[in-house]
Amino acid sequence: MAKPTNSSSMDQARKVQSTIVPIEDTPLRRPYLKPKNQSVEVDQTATSSRHVAANRSMPTVAAAEEKPASMPSESTLAMVTAEVIERLGDQLTNQPVDKATLKQYVREQLGQWRPMAWEDDISRNTLDAKPYENLASPASLESDQFYGSKDFVQYALSKIDDDQLKSMIAKDIYPIPCAEDREGYSPGYDGVYWMSGLVDYLKIMEVCERFGLLPRSCFDFGCATGRVLRHFAVQSNCETVWGSDINRRHVRWLQEFMPEKVRPVFNHCIPTLPIPDGSVDVVSAFSVFTHIDTFETCWLAELNRILSNKGVCYLTVHNEATWEVLREEIDNPKNRLVQSIRRVDPNFTDKLMGPMPDQRTVWRFTNFGPYRAQVFHSNNYLQRVWGRFFHIEEILPCHHVRQSVVVLRKK
Ligand SMILES: C[S@@+](CC[C@H](N)C(=O)[O-])C[C@H]1O[C@@H](n2cnc3c(N)ncnc32)[C@H](O)[C@@H]1O
Repeated sequence: MAKPTNSSSMDQARKVQSTIVPIEDTPLRRPYLKPKNQSVEVDQTATSSRHVAANRSMPTVAAAEEKPASMPSESTLAMVTAEVIERLGDQLTNQPVDKATLKQYVREQLGQWRPMAWEDDISRNTLDAKPYENLASPASLESDQFYGSKDFVQYALSKIDDDQLKSMIAKDIYPIPCAEDREGYSPGYDGVYWMSGLVDYLKIMEVCERFGLLPRSCFDFGCATGRVLRHFAVQSNCETVWGSDINRRHVRWLQEFMPEKVRPVFNHCIPTLPIPDGSVDVVSAFSVFTHIDTFETCWLAELNRILSNKGVCYLTVHNEATWEVLREEIDNPKNRLVQSIRRVDPNFTDKLMGPMPDQRTVWRFTNFGPYRAQVFHSNNYLQRVWGRFFHIEEILPCHHVRQSVVVLRKK
């Protein structure tokens, strides 16, 4: 890693650090043509050791850089490691470093970024076999466990009455995945986790009702361990309930613990699904297009292919409405979305004070493996690009917590 030797290369390095690259809006991106020293230079405008240390666990300083075609060889890694230590060692800790320990640390970190198997670079946990630690089924939980979130309860009870809610709970005899297996949704509050999925299910059904659609089949893209999908499986009239995820551990969970009408699919980051054309009445994706940095339009085309003519597509995004909410919550250290972007873009707080970029914007926090970015879509971009694939019926601001919902139908 070479330091910039003059102010113009230093300026260039700063630019790489702070530029947000709207991936699909950039006409020509050929990162492999960039001089090598641009992509790994630390921002010299913030060289306090605290800043450098905060960034050191991030594999990518240039947030939107593409993954190199192949991983560097062992000898290149060793050389880079030695050079990093030589140049940055003392800055990282702000005191004399034990270079052997630091070298070991850097090597371990580099090792972790490398995929365990080639499949792990296009999907996740392909070699996972760890047993699950499931929790009791909703049917066997105490009823007060479901009433922990006022917002969820209020919404649910505006659509169904309390007796209906109780009978829905009683019908669900399938285990609840443990907190580690549900992507951070309501850890420690299992009834609330179940209610959050029910609310999203009811919101989809409300949209279907508006279009006079009684769905017979559905597909939840990026469904994890079925937070929403389980309600289609247990509560709806759907005969076929497809669910896919890029994380094999989640797909295996669905295979083992969901009813037989659930058809779990392990997809990879290249957009293709083993689902027949025009066969699905409801396609949903919660918090998935907010993370897909590559092949977005190919996924839209694939979802369009499987959607039935009368069907409804219900996808969540971060848009201008999200941006406004984030601005209000700017000082909340618990806001994981803001914190995750700040780590790769220290100027994000300042940017939030201005308008959201009027395009698709990607903040990528790692270059390796899938599920590695936070993505924002302006309403204008949605109309311009998503509108080529689907008819955009409505964009419901912050209809899924901070995320907005885009309701789409076939053109
Ligand atoms: C924030 S979680 C949301 C999970 C689920 N939709 C829910 O609402 O509970 C995002 C999920 O999307 C999955 N995911 C991310 N990128 C994906 C992709 N390209 N294809 C399929 N699943 C993806 C992740 O593995 C994860 O399970």
